Order: sequence, then structure tokens, then C-alpha cells
Amino acid sequence: MNRLSELEIKNNLHTDIVGNRFEIFDSIDSTNTYLKKIDKTLLDEGFTVLAENQTGGKGRSGKSFYAPNCTGIYMSMLFKPSIKLDDINIITVMAAVSVVDALKSKTGILVSIKWVNDIMYQNKKLCGILAESSIKSYSEWAEYIVLGIGVNVNETDFPDDIKEIATSLKQITNIEYDRNEIVAEILNCVDKNYKFISNTDGRKKIVDRYRENLNMLGKQIKIINGNDTYIAKALDVDENAELIVENENGQIYNINCGQISIRAF
Ligand code: BTN
Repeated sequence: MNRLSELEIKNNLHTDIVGNRFEIFDSIDSTNTYLKKIDKTLLDEGFTVLAENQTGGKGRSGKSFYAPNCTGIYMSMLFKPSIKLDDINIITVMAAVSVVDALKSKTGILVSIKWVNDIMYQNKKLCGILAESSIKSYSEWAEYIVLGIGVNVNETDFPDDIKEIATSLKQITNIEYDRNEIVAEILNCVDKNYKFISNTDGRKKIVDRYRENLNMLGKQIKIINGNDTYIAKALDVDENAELIVENENGQIYNINCGQISIRAF
């Protein structure tokens, strides 16, 4: 079992922005929560926090993220983009494309994206992404974005409640992976794709790559919105990564991530 090491990560890092400074914890409640709490005025964007273990790992919609000791990757990065609240989804999209690129290059595993923020192998979840933002007072602009990425790497087993829906790189290939190499590759890909999204053309290309890797287009999906569950066909994603669906009455409409959850049908 290898430990996270700043030196080993930096040996494989080729970035301009991401990972300019690191902090690695043995244990923390959540790397996202930590980064959101600390004073960010003195931190440059790209500051990255990693932990061997999270005691309160967070997922979307108040869910928890399973983060056992020294087996997965739990990291959060700080961004200060010139971005409006309405466009913030592009950070999740950029992160998803980056994780797909990094995992394909380091492991050869063909992963796909489940809208909006999960990276999947077949029908099981390998990685979750959680982007949290703060808005500048009295404005529609983001003050900062904390981008959290959790990857199941060397887990050999999962608790009963997620056994059927989660997997790890090791479960797929039987290989024990060097987490430092995978961290560095994810950071390299995030750095490259983050620069892309600074202009409209680049954003469009990243959304195109996101769309190419989505696992649900053309398929029937189950949409769960609070107590309401309905079936629809996933048609496309638009430039803001909203999912365009067609319901059983033939009506076409967009859904954004909000509290909605999607299941394969
Ligand atoms: C999800 O599955 O809905 C998102 C999971 C995001 C998990 C990562 S692990 C690092 C960072 N810290 C957290 O508490 N959550 C994110």
C-alpha cells in the first residue's frame, strides 16, 4: 500500500495552475469542507488538498461519499474563475472529462460519464465529483469554486449498501494502482481542460467531449425528483450541460442537476 506523497505527485506533474501548492492530510472530515472554510484570499487558484481518509466525505444532494483509509483518492482544488453562477456547471463538466481522460491514459479502462457528475465503469460508480461555489456579494459572479474529486482506486470491497453500485480500479483489473501517479494525471488533465474553458470555443469543445462520453444518450432513464419518479428518454446535453429529455407524452424539456437523480432503466 503506497502513501500519498507530494514529492511523488510532483514528479509526474506538468501543470501551470493546478497543484501549485499542496496540503496532504492523514485524516480529515472532508477536503471540500476544509477548503471552503479556510481563508482563500491568500491562496492562489490551483491550491490542492488531499487526504488519506475522510470521515465525513460529501456527495451531491447531502449524500455521503465512502472514503476508506489509504485506498482511494479524495482531493479538492481551489478555482477562482471569471464565471457567472449560471455557467458553473462547466466546472463539473470539465472535471468529468478530465477524470475520463486521466483514467483512460493511466489504466486503459474505458469509463463513461453518468450525468451529471459520476464516472462509471459499466453500471458501477468509480468516481464522484462535487463542485461547490461561493458567489461574490450582490453579484452573479463566482467568488471561488471548490472542486472535489473522489476516485475508488484500490478498494477490494464496499459496504453492503453500495456494493452493487460501486466499483474500484482494482476490482476491475486486479491491479494495485499507485495513487500518486493517478492524482498527478488527473491534475494534469484538469489543468489542461480548465485552460480550455476560459473561452466560448473551448467550452463548447469540452461539452462536446462530455457528450461523447455520456453513457445514457438515446436511452430510457428514470428521473427522481423528490417523491416524483418518471421515465424519460435522454436526448442530449446543451451547452450548459443541462440534460435534454423527452417524456412519455413526447414533450421535450431540459433538466438541470438540482436535487434530481437519474437511474438507468
Ligand atoms: C458524489 O458522488 O455525488 C460526489 C462525491 C465527491 C467526493 C469528493 S472526495 C473529495 C471531496 N471531498 C468531499 O467531501 N467530497 C469530494
